[in-house]
Amino acid sequence: KEEPKKTLEPHEDEKLSGDMRELYDRLLPSDESEERRALLVKKLERILNEKWPGNDISVNVFGSSGNLLSSSDSDVDICITTPLKRLESMHSIAMLLSENGMEKVVCRASAKVPIVKYWDPELKMACDLNVNNPLALENTRMIKTYVQLDDRVRPLTKVIKYWTKRRLLNDAAYGGTVSSYTWTCMILNFLQRRDPPILPSLQKISGKRQNGAKDQETEFADDLEALKGYGDANKETLAELLFQFFRHYSYEFDFSKYVVSVKEGRLLSRLEKGWQPTNYMDKEARCRLCVEEPFTTNRNLGNSADDYAWSGIHGELRRAFEFLADGCQLDKACEEFVFP
Ligand code: CTP
Ligand code: MG
Repeated sequence: KEEPKKTLEPHEDEKLSGDMRELYDRLLPSDESEERRALLVKKLERILNEKWPGNDISVNVFGSSGNLLSSSDSDVDICITTPLKRLESMHSIAMLLSENGMEKVVCRASAKVPIVKYWDPELKMACDLNVNNPLALENTRMIKTYVQLDDRVRPLTKVIKYWTKRRLLNDAAYGGTVSSYTWTCMILNFLQRRDPPILPSLQKISGKRQNGAKDQETEFADDLEALKGYGDANKETLAELLFQFFRHYSYEFDFSKYVVSVKEGRLLSRLEKGWQPTNYMDKEARCRLCVEEPFTTNRNLGNSADDYAWSGIHGELRRAFEFLADGCQLDKACEEFVFP
């Protein structure tokens, strides 16, 4: 079989970089949506503290609302922190939200991380809410730090996230694919492995410190001033990075042998990780895609995609690559998937 195209021509590069910039500008959240996001936080804070006063309840955003990767229509991920343990069961919060006019309130109390989902009809926003999950707040802060380290990270990640959304590839809970968070880790690790690297491992370089989540190992370097210029020796353009991202995960990366590790800033072999594909009894190991959660490293963020889902995702990566290799057709690559 013919080898897939290796690089872009200068004129292709220029066109694709321009198209990406244009798309990125469109994807930035509007001021108006940022305002509604802030109002949602305030409103929740009020509702919760009026119901359970004196319990030091605070409302924090995480996920894309906190890591610079949101769009106007992104869900708001909220983590409530409180010493009032009773709220962790979620049922009373779900009830309170219904009583306060929230719609489509769904309580998934038995999930790994129990959550309540709801729709705020006044602010027109969907929200995922959990209680006392400091790890999510810290991994959000670390993603945000990576995003701020180099100017290329934010547009590249937002364009790829847009592609996953348009092709229905980012729904771990219902669609059987993988989460946006998994894709983000795959992108960051790809940037850590460029030559020269664009990103370091913030969990390996000097300047690490522990912040929130005191009882867990969540230390990482977060001094942006000290880290500035890390990726400057790498001159790759946005277009080149997008093209190489799809080329890499379509044709170069051997999913049967390697694990994506943002923590190590490199690939781990599935053997050294203990996630050999032949370990059928191990839920984390038998998956096709292995992506280590940076803080809880025994968690495989790829475990929501079964074999069938994975071959679909892999097919989509190749499809996107083909459209980019053939005249840099970003709009075709990101064409909305419609069920036949
Ligand atoms: N998260 C996690 N483990 C997962 C999935 C998500 O810890 N398997 C946490 C992470 O803190 C992540 C947050 O949940 O930042 C939100 O995940 P997700 O919604 O997948 O990513 P977003 O960046 O919010 O993307 P989107 O805009 O598509 O919602
Ligand atoms: Mg989210």
